[in-house]
Amino acid sequence: ETAGKVIKCRAAVAWAEKEPFSIEEVEVAPPKAHEVRIKMVATGVCHSDISFLNGLLPSAAKFPTILGHEGAGIVESVGEGVENFKEGDHVIPLYMPQCFQCPGCRHPKSNQCLKLFPQQMQGLMQDGTTRFTCKGQSLHHSMGISTFSEYTVVNDVSLVKINEEAPLEKVCLIGCAIATGYGAALNTAKVEPGSRCAIWGLGGIGLAAVMGCRAAGASKIYGIDINPDKFETARKFGCTDVLNPKDFEGKKFADVLTQMTGGGFDYTFECIGNVNTMLDAVESTNRFYGVTVLVGIAGHEKKMDLSPLLIVSGRTLKGSFFGGWRSVESVPMLVDEYMSGKIMVDEFITHKLKLDDINQSLELMKDGKCVRCVIHY
Ligand code: APR
Ligand code: ZN
Ligand code: ZN
Repeated sequence: ETAGKVIKCRAAVAWAEKEPFSIEEVEVAPPKAHEVRIKMVATGVCHSDISFLNGLLPSAAKFPTILGHEGAGIVESVGEGVENFKEGDHVIPLYMPQCFQCPGCRHPKSNQCLKLFPQQMQGLMQDGTTRFTCKGQSLHHSMGISTFSEYTVVNDVSLVKINEEAPLEKVCLIGCAIATGYGAALNTAKVEPGSRCAIWGLGGIGLAAVMGCRAAGASKIYGIDINPDKFETARKFGCTDVLNPKDFEGKKFADVLTQMTGGGFDYTFECIGNVNTMLDAVESTNRFYGVTVLVGIAGHEKKMDLSPLLIVSGRTLKGSFFGGWRSVESVPMLVDEYMSGKIMVDEFITHKLKLDDINQSLELMKDGKCVRCVIHY
């Protein structure tokens, strides 16, 4: 019986920017009011984890910290006042919470909850403290959920119960990549049947966007990546065409695409986080009605060099966060869609690793050797 006690367990600690993770014994305090302590079963490693480790988005990682935002686990204990969860529940932690009460949750067009701001951006729980310590030092939380630890503590609005039959070491990917890409196509772009679409970046997020375009009935889905090793998988997910921009050096890639499509795409998705490919994605849409959705996360100091003339002719440039899903309502539904065979999940997983090998997952991702690595606790 661990409820009410400090738990000692292992976690991947990010002590400082740009340093590899170090596997440490950490202490995880019991959950306070409206908090839940979770035994993690598995977590995916997302490109954003590399970006946050590199200091690209300071609000997502205040060092020292425990990163990770694509996990699934089982409730170990709950704090005072927690009504929706009990020990043993199967859950997915949510970096975008849903409290149902704040202005963000109540606005029909928003999927962004404001309840935990600004503490979540500071790597703190609502009372301004943290539940993690290591070697006498407190560690920050990250994105409110810190899944790179055997146990974590989250606010009860940052969590949702899912179908108990669902394999946690698979559906953890619904916590970020799958929801993000799939929803960008279905909720943000609202791709229509017969549309011609293009996706930049064929990692976990991009492939999920491909899956969304296919589900929406797109007639053409171009997958664009500088790593041709991604193309075979991309076709399995539904790409009708695959292109490597490096094969068109000396030409302006957006012009090549506009020509290929006889006037530009209906929908383009940038799933890399690179301001240059964002511009290509805009420029290669149809100038009168093309829609571009930005999904990838660029560094906080980056700027897009965008001519307003590109937009004024009729294009739309949109952004999508967590696929536009309202997390508590949608994540269990996506899990059920996987269970009924409507969405792919297993196909994203190329590597299973132990927590000890988490640094290897960063290397695999940097080298383009994986789609998703899943850490099994
Ligand atoms: N042009 C085309 N493809 C590129 C380019 C480029 N200039 N640079 C990188 N890529 C490709 C990589 O080869 C890789 O296949 O983009 C893909 C990115 O995939 P992952 O590294 O697996 O990243 P993923 O986890 O899918 O995240 C993508 O979404 O959440 C954000 O922070 C995340 O910004 C990142 C993006
Ligand atoms: Zn992510
Ligand atoms: Zn809210």
